[in-house]
Amino acid sequence: MQSHLKSPQTGILSAQRQHTGHRKSLYSVRDLQHIAVRRHLYSMKSIIDTIGKLLSIGLVACLITACYYDVEEELYPDTGCDSEDISYSEDVLPLLQTHCLVCHSQMANFGNINLEGYDQVLVHVGTGGLLGSIRGDDGWSVMPQGRPRMLDCNIEKIASWIEDGAPNN
Ligand code: HEC
Repeated sequence: MQSHLKSPQTGILSAQRQHTGHRKSLYSVRDLQHIAVRRHLYSMKSIIDTIGKLLSIGLVACLITACYYDVEEELYPDTGCDSEDISYSEDVLPLLQTHCLVCHSQMANFGNINLEGYDQVLVHVGTGGLLGSIRGDDGWSVMPQGRPRMLDCNIEKIASWIEDGAPNN
């Protein structure tokens, strides 16, 4: 009868054995998972490596072509800006209305500069302040104040209008 009964010690041992066996099988599942994750990471890494290589090849290619095309036409491309025969009423006035009059109307008159009406505009053409400020030339406050610069093409148009004698056309 007694031989069928396990002593407390054998009971513990066999329980431990069962326990470690169970844990071992758990580990092997985990190992498989690890391998899968590692494979996944490896393929991610090779994709990232490939992208990195392509980018550096592209960068080198850009640098090389930038040197090749270092010619005048490329450096000063025709911007398609039509600054011939500029009209005060159709070209200049709308630009002043959009960019300047909010601060330089007769009412606002910021910095004691009024650009409302052709005669007033002409005063600041005469001082050089109109073009100097929108171009940001030395000695002039850059205008429009606290706002993005006017587009180069629009500055070119105003410059061309002044060159033509700032006609009231
Ligand atoms: C947000 C308000 C604001 C806008 C928009 C603005 N200005 Fe001014 N402007 C000022 C103020 C304030 C002054 C006076 C302080 C200064 O000279 O910086 C001034 C000064 C000037 C002066 C005198 C500059 C000098 O150095 O003596 C000129 C010329 C002028 N503005 C032209 C313009 C023109 C042209 C535009 C549109 C392209 C424009 N401003 C848009 C606020 C503005």
